[in-house]
Amino acid sequence: MDYEPIRKTEINETAVRPNLLDYGKARQGFGWEDINKELDRFDDGGINIAYEVVDRHVKTPMKDKIALYWEGKNGESEEYTFHDLSKLSNRFAGALRNLDVRKGDRVFTYMDRTPEQYIALLGALKIGGVIGPLFSAFGPDAVKDRLGDCEAKVLITTPRLVNTVHEVLDDLPALNTIIIVNRRGVPYDLKDKEFSYETLMDAAPEEFEIEKTHAEDYAIIHYTSGTTGKPKGVVHVHEAIMGHYATAKYVLDLHQDDIYWCTADPGWVTGTSYGIFGPWSNAVSQVVYEGGFGAGHWYRVIEKYKVTVWYTAPTAIRMLMKSGEKPVRKHDLTSLRYMCSVGEPLNPEAVLWSKEVIGLPFHDNWWQTETGCIQIANYPVQDIRPGSMGRPFMGVTPTILDDNCEKELPPGEEGHLALKAGWPSMFRTYWNKKELYESRFKGDWYITGDRATMDEDGYFWFVGRADDVINSGGHLIGPFEVESALIEHPAVAEAGVIGIPDPLVMEVIKAFVSLKDGYEPSDELMRDIKKFARKKLHAVACPRKIQFIPGLPKTKSGKIMRRLLKARELGLPEGDTSTLEE
Ligand code: PRX
Repeated sequence: MDYEPIRKTEINETAVRPNLLDYGKARQGFGWEDINKELDRFDDGGINIAYEVVDRHVKTPMKDKIALYWEGKNGESEEYTFHDLSKLSNRFAGALRNLDVRKGDRVFTYMDRTPEQYIALLGALKIGGVIGPLFSAFGPDAVKDRLGDCEAKVLITTPRLVNTVHEVLDDLPALNTIIIVNRRGVPYDLKDKEFSYETLMDAAPEEFEIEKTHAEDYAIIHYTSGTTGKPKGVVHVHEAIMGHYATAKYVLDLHQDDIYWCTADPGWVTGTSYGIFGPWSNAVSQVVYEGGFGAGHWYRVIEKYKVTVWYTAPTAIRMLMKSGEKPVRKHDLTSLRYMCSVGEPLNPEAVLWSKEVIGLPFHDNWWQTETGCIQIANYPVQDIRPGSMGRPFMGVTPTILDDNCEKELPPGEEGHLALKAGWPSMFRTYWNKKELYESRFKGDWYITGDRATMDEDGYFWFVGRADDVINSGGHLIGPFEVESALIEHPAVAEAGVIGIPDPLVMEVIKAFVSLKDGYEPSDELMRDIKKFARKKLHAVACPRKIQFIPGLPKTKSGKIMRRLLKARELGLPEGDTSTLEE
């Protein structure tokens, strides 16, 4: 179904003059050197993300501006100025250096969204560490796979979560420092290799000489899922701040007096690129809410902090829609002036709903862990075409390629979404997987793994993934990771995992399981397998549905044909089955 565009003139966002006034002109005249002028490099051309997002503001009138409004899950509120964050991250950096943590060491966080996580990540960047934030919902295997893959040396966690780490500690020989943040002061006895965050911070000085990192030094690792193998570490460099800064300014349209709220957790790239780097490099105040989703809570946060710019995700928006108009009416949301969404296709209905009920449409934008920052977006100065991801950001050239990723296709034809390689925030490698990294490029083009179309006016429209990766509520899940966890269950012989459509979270996981001899399908066994998976994986990566089948369809070379499982599940044509095992 086609939807009428939402004209800019219909949207009451005009009270603030957008940073991007003329899209065509801006695209034509754009050069990254102009963005560079707005940042503050070291004299030798080096750059450090933590310096750009916090320390440089301390030399300006922004010093005493609130950078972080923190709202705890139990209703606690705290405020931190840029100066506070600078001093606290200095202390943490000093503590790390005392513990002999050096430039290039991988420093992970595994904790809820409390101020200490933000302080720790900034402090680790200041010593030149490579930061890796993990979701606190991860199970032991998910933690082990990530820390083990890049041989993380330091982990910052909490008394509650460290128990999960203890389960896999023997498999993590490189991990020699665990820092326990105990903000709620629960009784906890430090074990071998463990240090108290609070004690370290008390002992560390407020001054710290920041590591003069180079533009190409590694800064961040985010693990993301692909079709095969375990999650891969997407590596970003300090130079990436150019992209975070520019897109936060021109796509999220952040202005000095905004109060911005990004609902994403730093475990997901959105929660770092736009939950730390984008807003703070623009010296904008932001809200961090420790609690999870709840329509009432979320609207209350907007009302309490007078949030002006809001960045969230389609699943959350669909959940807000489900909770209806009533909670919206109970709150004063008039502070909001601009709203964006990312992570999954944003249904046109959600755009229209938000315009109708909240009074503003969500602006969809598209990017990936690998791209580091927003690549395609709806901008404040343009009409919104509901259902479209929008148009390319300045300095970014997307196209649609044919099935062989060789020829560019004309408007209207569906194909592989590809980007001309070479923007500052683009990933530099997959950790220890150079070949896989190189396989993502064809000539000058980076092949995104998504299928899309482009219309005559250069708006891009998402069609679907080109691979088996599942998107559940914005989380990418590699079927292999789930299958690997399932076959560790004593009853499971083989497992094939697919995504099936879900109206709320887009896709949920369905696993087809064949059992070992001596085991019979039963509801109890199904429950036990689900419980087993939940312990090993992130909650969203656990199968919602399990179907027992005698054997899985496989290729002659023994690969599970997920495509066939999916076609059969959804009643679609089975396509080419010539490689199917007899
Ligand atoms: O498939 C696309 C989907 O999410 C993928 C990127 O996931 P991840 O690396 O976890 O995301 C990082 C930050 C967004 C894409 O390849 N995706 C993302 N945005 C959109 C989207 N699909 C449709 N519309 C979007 N706006």
